[in-house]
Amino acid sequence: METTRLTVVSNRLAIVVDREQDGRWTIKPGSGGLVTALGPVLRDRGGQWIGWLGSNLQGELDEAALRDLLARGSRETGYALKPVELDDEEIQKYYFGFSNEILWPLFHDLPSRCNFDPAYWTVYERVNAKFARVVAQNTDEKEDYVWVHDYQLILVAAHLKAMGVRRSTGFFLHIPFPPLDGFIRLPWRSQILNALLQYDLIGFQTVRDRRNFMDCVRMLLPQTRVVGHGHIARCLTPEREVLVGVFPISIDFRQFADTAASQEVQDQAWIIHANLPERQLILGVDRLDYTKGIPLRLQAFANALERYPELRGTITLVQVVVPSRAEVPEYETLKREIERLVGEINGRFTEVGWTPIHYIYRSLSRVELLAYYRTCEIALITPLKDGMNLVAKEFCACSIENNGVLILSEFAGAAAQLHNGALLVNPFDIRGVADAIHRACAMDTVSRQARMEKMRRSIQKHNIFHWVNAFLRTGIHKDLNQFPRVEF
Ligand code: ADP
Ligand code: G6P
Repeated sequence: METTRLTVVSNRLAIVVDREQDGRWTIKPGSGGLVTALGPVLRDRGGQWIGWLGSNLQGELDEAALRDLLARGSRETGYALKPVELDDEEIQKYYFGFSNEILWPLFHDLPSRCNFDPAYWTVYERVNAKFARVVAQNTDEKEDYVWVHDYQLILVAAHLKAMGVRRSTGFFLHIPFPPLDGFIRLPWRSQILNALLQYDLIGFQTVRDRRNFMDCVRMLLPQTRVVGHGHIARCLTPEREVLVGVFPISIDFRQFADTAASQEVQDQAWIIHANLPERQLILGVDRLDYTKGIPLRLQAFANALERYPELRGTITLVQVVVPSRAEVPEYETLKREIERLVGEINGRFTEVGWTPIHYIYRSLSRVELLAYYRTCEIALITPLKDGMNLVAKEFCACSIENNGVLILSEFAGAAAQLHNGALLVNPFDIRGVADAIHRACAMDTVSRQARMEKMRRSIQKHNIFHWVNAFLRTGIHKDLNQFPRVEF
């Protein structure tokens, strides 16, 4: 069993390919925690990553050049990279369509934003079947454990079964699982639930997500029995037993803390500080996404300035927005709304020498991002709903002087773990968030440190490596006794 090879399957491959101005192709490892965490496991066990290379390459690379790039990528990462190619229709209907106009809003409790176009389902099925074929061709029943990630690929195990291909499989959902009264609206609800039950292990971020899933199974698939609680429960279908666990994802704590202490980050932090002196900086960092609650957050910030005039001239909100999914119409509308609100609030409150909101719309380098984490004393993270929210954990890991204050939405998965140290808020409650901003600004050093120490200890212990090990020990070794009880 120790020698089981790992095959990771996710919508995006673990590398980012880009074209330089001089036309040369460059290749970089993906920047997320998943890539960092799975790299060593894939190298040790021998493994591979299967995924899509992204739309910026569409039609740009011939086959030989692609082969060459992937060989280079595989050498650099230390494990094999297997691409799944998507045509234009597939990108539109599987990725932008079913994944991001149906599952994404529905699973984040925003059903009114769903576009239940039936054509999306057909292509979602087709692309999941395509991924399943690549998995089948590149794996072996005895040697490989197949770990599929996220909502874009729910049907992969079901397609493997339909093809008569037996594999040991696990699935992790990075986003929330909705309550029954939201999920039930999905025209393909039975297909999605039945497909999830084709995996041997299903992992969720929080106890609440797992409970929602179990409620849906109980109500919609009455022939399936749901048993157990704690970290690992079971679904007993008429044909099989499926393990269902809670595995809150995390970050490489040490790497964030060490890099935050590096000279390079300190120099950059100094530049930020020098340009925004003698003020408390409040940080918001999000992909441009309506689930992140950015407009309500801006309104809460304005409400704080209005109701607590002593804050004017003493606090600045740095709001970083990372471009995302630009082809989904909702995202373009949101961008305009944010820009309008930033303009309105700055127009209303700006005084000589003080602008209340610094708005940055672009991707930041790692050093810049960490410099903001270090310089800003308060993080304002208020998603309407979020699977976990890694930014919250990264901010804490980088608060190496223990002086940061985290204001966190109670609807982020991270709140289940960080409730002892964060100021929890309801992101829909504008006055409540404004009060939390006021409270954070006034919080004394002793309270800040006590709260931050608790959060940092918890994240350091439950880091990304702990997450990978917990999932794989359950999935591959069926080791169900490794967890004391659900801790958060
Ligand atoms: P989501 O996965 O929904 O985008 P998370 O907060 O869980 O939300 O993860 C976001 C990830 O993107 C974090 O790991 C963070 O470091 C990274 N990130 C956030 N902002 C930027 C930025 N401006 N530039 C580069 N990476 C960013
Ligand atoms: C969330 C999802 C991921 C997704 C990421 C970025 O974290 O859980 O599956 O990859 O957002 O979104 P994108 O659509 O650019 O891949």
